[in-house]
Amino acid sequence: MHSADDIKKMVGTYAAQFVEQNAVIGLGTGSTVYWLLQALGTRIQQGLRFTAVPTSTQTHTIGTALGIQFRELNEVDELSVTIDGADEADPQLQLIKGGGGALLQEKMVAAASKKLIIIADHTKVVAQLGKFPLPVEVIPFGWKQVQKHIAQLGCEKIVLRVKNNDTYITDNHNYILDCWFDAIGDAAALNAALHNIPGVVETGLFINMAKEVIAGYPDGRIVTIGG
Ligand code: A5P
Repeated sequence: MHSADDIKKMVGTYAAQFVEQNAVIGLGTGSTVYWLLQALGTRIQQGLRFTAVPTSTQTHTIGTALGIQFRELNEVDELSVTIDGADEADPQLQLIKGGGGALLQEKMVAAASKKLIIIADHTKVVAQLGKFPLPVEVIPFGWKQVQKHIAQLGCEKIVLRVKNNDTYITDNHNYILDCWFDAIGDAAALNAALHNIPGVVETGLFINMAKEVIAGYPDGRIVTIGG
């Protein structure tokens, strides 16, 4: 049986094969992507050359140490593929992302990509989105008003994200509200309703973006959904 970290390493390493010579790609954020970056570092030593747009300072820092050449999103036109993690993925490949706080840049980079591949352990594959608290990025000004409006959408618990005893600040200098919806019936409608609230910058709902989800299982299986 593989441990949770073994599974992340397995799928992260597996996904490195999808990066082609001279490609321009997007690189996601998180503990599964960490292993993708390590595997890409090994492939660079073996001669692979590619350019990547990072979705966070975390990925930029880890990747730079491994020899990955980064560009800003404004310096590229289109990305052939982005490989990223997720917090939940449903059978329609709708996602909740942003557990690591990088949802805004992750969504922008994914939207610039021909293909979004998600790598995850089996616990992220769910029948319905919503058990994982939905991250919503908001501007700091008046965030309590935004919290009130989200509550009016039927969300019972909304918590301002804290890290190391301080309010968590995103790479784009915003706050994150973690929203416990429990069960999200219509993810597209909820995404639209959240975007209608003044002060909401982005939501962690990724609708019609992922083309495939590569999930790892404790028995060593790697299962691709979609594709
Ligand atoms: C980062 O903001 C997130 O969207 C991550 O991609 C997601 O939380 C998955 O991260 P892990 O691979 O660490 O579980």
